[in-house]
Amino acid sequence: MMKNTMLEMSRYAALARQAVAEGIVLLKNEAVLPLVSGGRAALFGYAQFHYYQSGTGSGGLVNTAHVPNLPEVLGGPDGYQLDAEVQARYAAWLAEHPYEMGTGWAQEPWFQPEMPLDEDFVRAAAQRAETAFIVIGRTAGEDQDNSNAPGSFLLTEGEENMLALVCRHFKKSVVLLNVGNIIDMQWVMRYNPGAVAYIWQGGQEGCRGVLDVLNGTVNPCGKLPDTIACTPADYPAADHYGADDSNIYAEDIYVGYRYFETFAPEKVLYPFGFGLSYTKFEVRLLSADETADGITAFAAVQNTGSCPGKEVVQLYCTAPQGRLGKPSKVLCAFAKTRTLAHGESQTLTLKAPWRNFASYDDSGVTGHKSAFVLEAGEYCFSLGTDVRSAEEAFTVTLPLMVVEQLESAAAPAVAFERLRPGADGTPAWEPVPTEEERPEPRRAARLPREWLQTGDKGIRLRDVADGTTAMADFVAQFSDEELCTIVRGEGMNSPRVTPGTAGAIGGVSDALQRYGLPAACCSDGPSGIRMDCGTVAFAMPNGTCLAATFNEGLSEELYSMEGLELRKNHVDTLLGPGINIHRHPLNGRNFEYFSEDPLLTGKMACAQLRGMHRWGVTGTIKHFATNNQEHRRHFVESVVSERALREIYLRGFEIAVKEGHARSIMTSYNPLNGYWTASNYDLVTTILRGQWCYTGIVMSDWWADGNDRDGAGSTKHVAAMVRAQNDVFMVVTDPEHNSGSDDLAVALTEGRLIRGELQRSAANICRFLLQTPAFRRSIGRTTALDAQLEAMAEQDMQQAAQNGQPLTLHGGVSIDPAAIDNGYRRTTAFCVMVEQGGAYTLHLRCRAMPGNSPLAQIPVSIFAGRVFVKTITITGAQTDWCEFTAALPAVDAGEVFCLRFYFGQSGMELDAVSLNLLS
Ligand code: BGC
Repeated sequence: MMKNTMLEMSRYAALARQAVAEGIVLLKNEAVLPLVSGGRAALFGYAQFHYYQSGTGSGGLVNTAHVPNLPEVLGGPDGYQLDAEVQARYAAWLAEHPYEMGTGWAQEPWFQPEMPLDEDFVRAAAQRAETAFIVIGRTAGEDQDNSNAPGSFLLTEGEENMLALVCRHFKKSVVLLNVGNIIDMQWVMRYNPGAVAYIWQGGQEGCRGVLDVLNGTVNPCGKLPDTIACTPADYPAADHYGADDSNIYAEDIYVGYRYFETFAPEKVLYPFGFGLSYTKFEVRLLSADETADGITAFAAVQNTGSCPGKEVVQLYCTAPQGRLGKPSKVLCAFAKTRTLAHGESQTLTLKAPWRNFASYDDSGVTGHKSAFVLEAGEYCFSLGTDVRSAEEAFTVTLPLMVVEQLESAAAPAVAFERLRPGADGTPAWEPVPTEEERPEPRRAARLPREWLQTGDKGIRLRDVADGTTAMADFVAQFSDEELCTIVRGEGMNSPRVTPGTAGAIGGVSDALQRYGLPAACCSDGPSGIRMDCGTVAFAMPNGTCLAATFNEGLSEELYSMEGLELRKNHVDTLLGPGINIHRHPLNGRNFEYFSEDPLLTGKMACAQLRGMHRWGVTGTIKHFATNNQEHRRHFVESVVSERALREIYLRGFEIAVKEGHARSIMTSYNPLNGYWTASNYDLVTTILRGQWCYTGIVMSDWWADGNDRDGAGSTKHVAAMVRAQNDVFMVVTDPEHNSGSDDLAVALTEGRLIRGELQRSAANICRFLLQTPAFRRSIGRTTALDAQLEAMAEQDMQQAAQNGQPLTLHGGVSIDPAAIDNGYRRTTAFCVMVEQGGAYTLHLRCRAMPGNSPLAQIPVSIFAGRVFVKTITITGAQTDWCEFTAALPAVDAGEVFCLRFYFGQSGMELDAVSLNLLS
């Protein structure tokens, strides 16, 4: 594909629109769609007015200029004549029932109450228009799981009533699900709509992508990245999901379709990989070869229907049950066609390396403990367009093969039983192999060598880049204080990096910067760049939508644009993609993540990384690992077998590391098999760095806990994190002065941490920095592209400067707090006329309003003209008045500048705000 070298916003939008259209999954269509543009239609559902561009929390806070809603797009050019009476009724309802935002971080209600409909009104509307679109919307997000209740997984009474009436009276009814994750679908049987589609949360281009599918500009080709079963209770994790302290992964590797196809096919409403098209395809195996690395199949796909379209072909493997027991089908390769015209064919190559269908033997039952093995027997491969209908295509007989011999790591210490197929194929249980002895967090034999400290020898990071000095000699210069500083990230809103971002890494003190270390910037992710200071960024489709495209090339192109945008905003790594497995449909952050399947997850992560890597920036794959529920996400321990870890929960990360060349990873909040992941040596050192040969950085999640052997979790246990090679603790406000009161210095003195371990992480961090645009900028190695992006950024700033409320600055001036809009993502501008020049400070008193979650992050950012002054972030726990002061740039008498306040969240109360002249 052609490499784009410009941040062309129109191309960005076109790619995102295409991605939304290709991600839409059409589940039902009784000759209703496509609908020719221009016809009459009525639009029902509150969510039409508030299109959910993404979920909430860190993954949903992209500040977007304007996101068109469904009436704007469906009622616009290429759309339909929307019934005016229905629109007017909703407009009146909306005026009286404005969108309910909730207060503070991730407190947005998951749904909005529906406007009650009555039979006569709907009947009359159906006489005016033949088609009805019904929109059902949900958000979801961080810190809060979905629930099996109306307004979350289930439909509300109002929504049920709307569906019942509209489907009864309209000839054609099309239900559009503007949701981030799968929801209950049993209502399809109750109301029998003509067409049903998951339109997901498509970012700023979402509604346009929807129109393209409705009117047939794009033939739907999205496929379900998750199995849709009847109820949440049907999912195999249901018995343990949502636990307070210990979450036992008893279903083991039988996650999603691996479970349903093996044990409970009758509980499936829509199988994994399923999605309808407006045309028909025939898929035929041409040939299959056994190669040194695995199996390669060639499949011919022909469009036998009437309109052009794309198809996703999936190759599944049914392995012999052997001694380990296997799921009845495992996705081992997939590929998507280009757009095929009527009658046109394409040959797809499906490569399935052995590892894609090998099993990890954690008990030694095959004679090969801690190895990925293929047990002897017949391997049957099926080819098709969803897991259920894929048909047997060829068989390969294999001897017992050891695909990769590894070493046991991160095994559970707690005894529990796990699911497996019994002799007759029905569910059976077996004990999970456990570590008999709790492992030490680090193995004495593997302590890193210490480099003799030399003090500052004048070596700078650029000398390492130029190859004139070894990394060891460079790092040897750091004092103990500097080593302790470098493993602390600065944030949120570090003044050293792009305003409003989550953190700075590397040059987080003046002392470190003297060695030529830049401060690298990271920002949330994954659905666009989160800048909590009002800076506008592009809002991407959500992770599940992108996974549903099964289109790696398209994701790569889209994230190439993201890469350019990151570079323009001086962000070195996006905090995403989020690649945790959809273990259960009620997980609040599923919307950010891709799928229940690790192969699809890994491949989509690689695609995004490849796109961003084109421009020297990267993504941080997160949350490593088993962050599969939001309820008590800091505390609940994931208790998982080694097999399930290797085959399911770590697999996407492994693919992203090995194939996607990931160079930044975020550990998760939760403990895994006894250790909080940031301090889990087996996870971060033995597996990630030892077995996968990962050489990038590892950062903690924000204010994550760590623990020592048998110790309780604490954000202060940073020594344990460094020992595990979680290189950076994210985040503290003042890394140099240990504002987080971590235990690094004490641990170093007591020998619980050795200098060599700090130096090892320092080297990991420096190696990462060498690859960043921040480093290249710091040594003046910018390119024409940087100049071009810089000019774009300047222009944006000028555009953002706007006239505001007049304010005269003559010595001190108080600003009425009521004049400042402290609502969610609100900007208030003052046009300040300076009568008396000089150096001014801004003083602000604020507190968190009651009702915020204690972990809520509530920021206000202040700008003077184009200069970013400060972002003040308080947490939901700060309910007492706090005082903040910030210095403004010096001003001259007669100057006029724009003072701006931007609230990234609601939930902060202001008391006194003033500008004061410094004497
Ligand atoms: C989330 C991360 C996010 C970080 C920084 C945490 O609460 O779990 O995914 O990147 O905050 O905002």
